[in-house]
Amino acid sequence: MTATIISGKELSERLRGELADDIKELSVQPSLAVILIGDDPASHSYVRGKEKACAAVGIHSIVKRHPASLPEEELLAEIEALNEDSSVHGILVQLPLPDHISENAVLEKIVIGKDVDGFHPVNVGRLLTGKKAFTPCTPLGIMKMLEISGVDPKGKRAVVVGRSQLVGRPVGQLLLNKDATVTYCHSKTEDLASVTREADILIAAAGRAGMIGAEHVKDDAVVIDVGVNRMETGKLTGDVQFEPVREKAGWLTPVPGGVGPMTITMLLHNTVEAARGTMF
Ligand code: GUN
Repeated sequence: MTATIISGKELSERLRGELADDIKELSVQPSLAVILIGDDPASHSYVRGKEKACAAVGIHSIVKRHPASLPEEELLAEIEALNEDSSVHGILVQLPLPDHISENAVLEKIVIGKDVDGFHPVNVGRLLTGKKAFTPCTPLGIMKMLEISGVDPKGKRAVVVGRSQLVGRPVGQLLLNKDATVTYCHSKTEDLASVTREADILIAAAGRAGMIGAEHVKDDAVVIDVGVNRMETGKLTGDVQFEPVREKAGWLTPVPGGVGPMTITMLLHNTVEAARGTMF
């Protein structure tokens, strides 16, 4: 049987429509401040995507662009000012940062109620302890895709390939919070396929093009491809070999048009939550 494709693009269109309706009902217009440092083309492209998506649902966005030479103190002072500005509901500092800036210092500077990325250690800790928290957008988008597809993680074996702070670790935590039995795999895992073949839910988030083939997948598994790998041709490709895995899996997300659009949709969702001010 061929897998049912979970389209993040279609799901995002629906959810963004619902968000636009919710925003019309709010007493304030949600507002997101994005800070972008340096000239990495991928980061600039992601930020343009976020700006466009905000405008389409009625979120006011402000993008502060800086050269890579921006001193850390100036960045921290800008975050401080945004923390204190009551017209700004969400703050996002696009990663990665230049080497001379401490990522930890920056993420810790954002006040937790405006941390729409969910990267502040307090939000990370709250997620870990199962409390209400701003949750990183990609993991939240993955959970939404599972929910809408009718996949209940309870009691299922979930295998997460990749242990990044942005995706692998938090998505494993969210699956655990939903009562899945979770295993993490990473670059040092021996005999990867023997572990991933146990997965009812397989999350491929290692950032290595095509590393998950049909031999890594159990029949009828739910396979979520988080990979965004740019090929020499300029084409985007996932961590999963789409065609062979499609023949084996029960559910599969495409790249592009899968997890990517859901990440931005969840950023919009978190910004609306921040504007409501009811998270904490
Ligand atoms: N760079 C790549 N993904 C992300 C993300 O989700 N948030 C931020 N702030 N930077 C990123």
